[in-house]
Amino acid sequence: MRLSVPPVCSLGGEAPSRRRTLNRRPAARPPQHPRAWSRVVLVSNSAGETRALGAQLALLASGDETLALSGPLGAGKTCLVQGVGRALGIRRPISSPSFVLMKRYRGRFPLTHWDWYRLADRSDLESCGFADPQVGPGLVVIEWAERFLDQIERPFVQIEITPTGRHSRRLRFQVRGRSPRLSRFIRDLRDWWVSRHCAEHAQRPGDAQ
Ligand SMILES: Nc1ncnc2c1ncn2[C@@H]1O[C@H](COP(=O)(O)OP(=O)(O)O)[C@@H](O)[C@H]1O
Ligand SMILES: [Mg+2]
Repeated sequence: MRLSVPPVCSLGGEAPSRRRTLNRRPAARPPQHPRAWSRVVLVSNSAGETRALGAQLALLASGDETLALSGPLGAGKTCLVQGVGRALGIRRPISSPSFVLMKRYRGRFPLTHWDWYRLADRSDLESCGFADPQVGPGLVVIEWAERFLDQIERPFVQIEITPTGRHSRRLRFQVRGRSPRLSRFIRDLRDWWVSRHCAEHAQRPGDAQ
């Protein structure tokens, strides 16, 4: 005897058991690893906010990270490094080391600040001794890192700063290479940024109805 199979979209009535079996999917397995954060995008609306972000970066850092900054002139790369320096307790004023290429500062941990704007090619990078200080202890921050991104030892955090208005900047943090520790680092930065903004929003007069 042949059984007639009801159409799939029929209302009421039970679908034939063969169809149920075909549609059954294995239950979703819990992920083996927590989701890795490899990218975070934040928006800063003032130079002060960018400095605060830099300061928080330094507070969350272990002191052996490399931060590769990219973005056009005036994007706020040095501004971010000034915040880093403030949180490390560095008293010396921080400016772009465009002419000297590199400056080292002593703080809670050492800070090495590079500026690759004037480097013409890879041989310049080799002769300026980039490889030496990078293997030394401390936090390494590189302005104009996009010029030789492939020369930076992974894993590192790339920070692309894009001006989106007179005072607004989009900061895109991306972990280059696999590093659960750096993924946590940028996730913690994002969490801090969100809680800071929620707190500010809650305090804003006129928000309370
Ligand atoms: N949201 C912002 N973040 C960073 N800098 C900002 C911001 N808004 C305005 N600015 C201004 O932009 C300039 C950034 O300069 P700087 O940090 O030296 O840039 P870069 O090192 O990328 O060339 C500063 O004059 C700063 O006051
Ligand atoms: Mg600069």
